[in-house]
Amino acid sequence: MIAIMFGPPGSGKGTQASRVATRLGIPHVAAGDMLRDEVARGTDLGREAKPIMDAGGLVPDELVVRMIDARLNQPDASQGVLLDGYPRTLAQATALDSMLAARGAQVAEVISLEVPDDELRARILRRAGIEGRSDDTPERLDQRLRVYRADTEPVLDHYRAAGTHILSIDGVGDIDAITDQIISSIRHNGAPVGTA
Ligand code: AP5
Repeated sequence: MIAIMFGPPGSGKGTQASRVATRLGIPHVAAGDMLRDEVARGTDLGREAKPIMDAGGLVPDELVVRMIDARLNQPDASQGVLLDGYPRTLAQATALDSMLAARGAQVAEVISLEVPDDELRARILRRAGIEGRSDDTPERLDQRLRVYRADTEPVLDHYRAAGTHILSIDGVGDIDAITDQIISSIRHNGAPVGTA
């Protein structure tokens, strides 16, 4: 199954995608983690991405599309993946649709985590005190939220218009309960698990 974990910064995409992917037995493909790894390794992509990520902007589509395309070519992705933080623009969504079509696959499920802005802020600022992520300041978070509303939210309409199943999940509350809710909703929807 190809699924997308969708939601604003701090909605719990990474937290939930990691758990849900393990339960479904498919890889968790997190664009933000992959980019931070490129930054840490000092690759060309990492050097280009770092100032953009630090400022709360989006890394250019062509670079991210190439990175995800290469990841989907790895053998462990052949039975499906849970994408986290990708696609984030309409151009990335249409590129993903083409990449999957070339592999005889399509997005089966978009899991949309719904969390109010005041809770997003509280989570990110709490994490800032623990992890010190360079984009977790109040100003950068405001910028990330603006980018999310302008560039990323339309991706949901793209999949809605395509008839893809959108699973809206209340992302506030106990982390285990949210994971259980996602898993049972996917099973209820009958989305094919374990096949591309
Ligand atoms: P990315 O790493 O994807 O950051 P993000 O979307 O801003 O998301 P976060 O990691 O902040 O939050 P999350 O929704 O994953 O929540 P999490 O589980 O961490 O991207 C970073 C940057 O990389 C982007 O800004 C951009 O520059 C670049 N980038 C990435 N993808 C790109 C793309 N496709 N195109 C272009 N550029 C791209 O949880 C947040 C916190 O809340 C954690 O501390 C967690 O422990 C806590 N938490 C989680 N769930 C709960 C809960 N239920 N209750 C209480 N706390 C909770």
